[in-house]
Amino acid sequence: MLEKINQTADFLRGRVNGELPTIGIILGSGLGNLVDHITDKEVIPYKEIPNMPVSTVAGHSGNLIFGTLNGRRVLAMQGRFHYYEGYDMKSVTFPVRVMHALGIDTLFVSNAAGGMNKEFKVGDVMIITDQINLFPENPLRGHNYEELGPRFPAMTEPYSKELIAKADAIAARKGIRIMHGVYVGTTGPTFETPAEYEYFRVIGGDAVGMSTVPEVIVARHMDMRVFGVSVITDLGGKDITEVPSHEEVTKAAENAQPTMLAVIKDLVAEC
Ligand code: HPA
Repeated sequence: MLEKINQTADFLRGRVNGELPTIGIILGSGLGNLVDHITDKEVIPYKEIPNMPVSTVAGHSGNLIFGTLNGRRVLAMQGRFHYYEGYDMKSVTFPVRVMHALGIDTLFVSNAAGGMNKEFKVGDVMIITDQINLFPENPLRGHNYEELGPRFPAMTEPYSKELIAKADAIAARKGIRIMHGVYVGTTGPTFETPAEYEYFRVIGGDAVGMSTVPEVIVARHMDMRVFGVSVITDLGGKDITEVPSHEEVTKAAENAQPTMLAVIKDLVAEC
């Protein structure tokens, strides 16, 4: 695995002309517009990158984008690898390993999620304060590479409190309604039954989605700082009868883009 990570990082170092970034961004469903705000772009399709898995879901294009966002060098992943697509955990989290090998120490993650918190409305943006791993495995299972991180990493601060405080200040300054909550990560690809949404709420979850948790575990294994946001694209629970669909989720995520962008752009500059 170390050899593969270094091989891919070496390839990217050779391929990119601009200065290497220290901030990585994983763009979730429908949040791709951030890419339009990146300048000096160098776009590298996943299929041209050695060892990179290839993305399969409609609406998730697969590119690494090196460039500048609000004055800072960033590497954005346009399209991520979901466990439900059939990738194993090592593949899902491989790009985060490569980011770290390139010198990235701060990771931004975004996703679409179903809301269980009764205060939430569709279109809300939730800063992720903590997470619950309900995937059937942990991406760190198996041999531990001490070069990358410890066998038993602490997960006491999965999401950086400092970055959360900065994001709150930005949102307050801009008059943006921003929620906080715990993200529950599950395999999908089914959306939840009413009883499952209820169960996730009772165990302490505010929103549920099918990504993010593996990448954050691997980032924290390597002591990267993490900031995460969910767009609440649908609501679930015992009393909720609306049926979520992929189209609806994508549309709601699109609608929340201006809010997400406003916060993320400023936060990147303050990193
Ligand atoms: N459940 C799981 N994943 C999701 C949802 C949901 O309701 N909405 C968007 N991603």
